[in-house]
Amino acid sequence: MDQVATFYSGQGNLVGAVGSALDAAGIDRAALRAADLAPLDEFHIRGRAATLEIIEALDLTAESHVLDLGSGLGGPARTIAELTGCRVTGVDLTPEFCEVAAALSTWTGLADRTTFQVGDATDTALPAESVDAALTVHVGMNIPDKAALYAEASRVLRPGGRFVVYDVLQGEGGDVLYPVPWAMDDSTSFLATPADMRALLVGAGLDIVAEADSSDESFVWFQQMRARIERDGPPRITFAAFLGDSFGQMAANQVKNLAEQRIRTVMFVCARPR
Ligand SMILES: C[S@@+](CC[C@H](N)C(=O)[O-])C[C@H]1O[C@@H](n2cnc3c(N)ncnc32)[C@H](O)[C@@H]1O
Repeated sequence: MDQVATFYSGQGNLVGAVGSALDAAGIDRAALRAADLAPLDEFHIRGRAATLEIIEALDLTAESHVLDLGSGLGGPARTIAELTGCRVTGVDLTPEFCEVAAALSTWTGLADRTTFQVGDATDTALPAESVDAALTVHVGMNIPDKAALYAEASRVLRPGGRFVVYDVLQGEGGDVLYPVPWAMDDSTSFLATPADMRALLVGAGLDIVAEADSSDESFVWFQQMRARIERDGPPRITFAAFLGDSFGQMAANQVKNLAEQRIRTVMFVCARPR
């Protein structure tokens, strides 16, 4: 797990780096909205569009308390809190990511509805049945013991509550080409197949309500990103603020991984039985 946190925080002083990236882009921190940060903090394929789909599936009200397992820089948590008015708790292994997430929530005026704590998504120490809904977005790829991850989601969820998993899965086209945005090599990358996922989620006591494979849209998303960069230059703020110089190679590998069906992006909407 140390290796995973080191991969994500490798650049050091992330709050400073993200603040400088915003300043260099001429972005006024006092006037920030969650959506302005999407190219930076929605750290998953298809970005904010995927988070909007997750919000639809989670069935939330303004009174809901939501748990985000592996919350990263907090983009999905802030988008959910801003659009639904609910409260979101994020748990993430990487302390620097939790620090940046808290800073970005302060700058966007969402600190009262989003909190971020350092912890392991397979063992959050939250009370049983204490949240109304839960999500985990592009995190399972770093976790070998996925049975423990989904058992934890099931444990903390109230009966009838929704749990959405949106992850990168192993495709049928062969081994993943590294580096990718979640790992430099296969020592911290553990992809499940769609069939593995169904068995894991049901094994955790969850009902699968819906399953959607968005791999084709993910490929188009990367192509459009590449075309935009060629046309307009790199976005003012990007994942490169924390992934460093390797990001270009990672993005190129992702286009190939998707084109050759080495990876798939799939969303599972689950419910804890009443
Ligand atoms: C690709 S990022 C996705 C972040 C966020 N979910 C998003 O979509 O913007 C993966 C995140 O998973 C976190 N992570 C990996 N293993 C974890 C674990 N065992 N417990 C908690 N967080 C973990 C990493 O620290 C990182 O922030």
